[in-house]
Amino acid sequence: MDFKEKIRVILDYPQEGVRFKDITTLLADGPAYRAAIDRMVKFAQEKKPDIIVGPEARGFVVGCPLAVQMGVGFAPVRKKGKLPYETIQAEYSLEYGKDALAMHKDAIKPGQRVLIADDLLATGGTIQTTIDLVQKLGGEIVGLAFLIELTYLNGREKLGTDSDIFTLIQY
Ligand code: PRP
Repeated sequence: MDFKEKIRVILDYPQEGVRFKDITTLLADGPAYRAAIDRMVKFAQEKKPDIIVGPEARGFVVGCPLAVQMGVGFAPVRKKGKLPYETIQAEYSLEYGKDALAMHKDAIKPGQRVLIADDLLATGGTIQTTIDLVQKLGGEIVGLAFLIELTYLNGREKLGTDSDIFTLIQY
């Protein structure tokens, strides 16, 4: 399947010069959505994760179906102030802006094998912060899976991990 043709590119959103990759057109196409998740499951199964971790919000639409299909749990990474129980936090920078991400402090048990999933690897800031949070909780990162990689932003090189990285679509 040509997954790239399922992604809608929006010019100058959210600011001038950005070519925003809109995944809603892929999500709305049942067979394409399922095929995309199937490809990620194939990669993820080899890593034998105990749990999938995904950052808000688009990381949920990738990470949750992945977890359900694999029969493992899911732990959310959320923007600060959104999780009800005790959290750990870390600051991060985005392609446009800054924020802090948080996880429940018991979301990962020490030694658990963690696979991180998200829709997009851009600068890598979100995923690096997610990696930091998981490692702080004692999780072992066994793989990273994304729908889309913006290779020209070199996020992959900037990530402080040797984990295998899978990306379905590259720009
Ligand atoms: C987007 C995207 C990734 C991240 C990628 O999320 O879903 O999580 O940016 O960018 P990076 O590699 O430069 O960090 P965003 O923070 O816009 O949140 P959303 O999913 O809630 O829209």
